[in-house]
Amino acid sequence: MSHVYASSHPLVAHKISILRNKNTKSKQIRELMHEIGQLLAYEATADLSLKTAEPQQSPLRTYSSVELAPKIGLVPILRSGISFVNALQELIPTARILHLGIFREKISLQPVEYYNKLPSEPNVDQVIVLEPMIATGGTAIAAVSILKDWGIKSKIKFITAVASRQGLNNLHKKYPDVEVFVGVIDEILDDHGYIVPGLGDAGDRLFDTP
Ligand code: URA
Repeated sequence: MSHVYASSHPLVAHKISILRNKNTKSKQIRELMHEIGQLLAYEATADLSLKTAEPQQSPLRTYSSVELAPKIGLVPILRSGISFVNALQELIPTARILHLGIFREKISLQPVEYYNKLPSEPNVDQVIVLEPMIATGGTAIAAVSILKDWGIKSKIKFITAVASRQGLNNLHKKYPDVEVFVGVIDEILDDHGYIVPGLGDAGDRLFDTP
């Protein structure tokens, strides 16, 4: 899985350990997700290209300034992807937020699109999909298919806290060019589509719903 970048950062590993704990409360889950999102974003944005901007004046002299070349779209997958939005927006304030609502049907585990805030024409050059959990990979595959149909030609990146090995394999088989920046990979996916040990239902834990 050459396009999967599992973080080796000790802060990510420490934060995910706390995130997994069933006694960690919703407020801290949100804070941890925010912090993990920023650490993964640092890795996921390392290859962004720069362009020369207008020379500017420091207090001492003129300097040549640069700015991000591509227009970035952040694509949070509702609900849990919302937890990464502020984290990424703080780092890339010019990013456009393109919400996608996709839920997994409970029995079949098949993805169902229920909300799509993509404008009719692509207005970004690159997208980063914000999806805290990749379990079966079905939702991730659906999101990539929607984005490619929309007209995204450049490589699509995911920022994900916890993924199952099987889900990453499924995504890679269908879309080998997609890059996933993931906090940790778990080996087990149970019959209900939960990642084990995982962290439970990310949306429920983030938003304190039963
Ligand atoms: N989505 C979650 O929130 N948790 C899982 O374990 C799998 C999918």
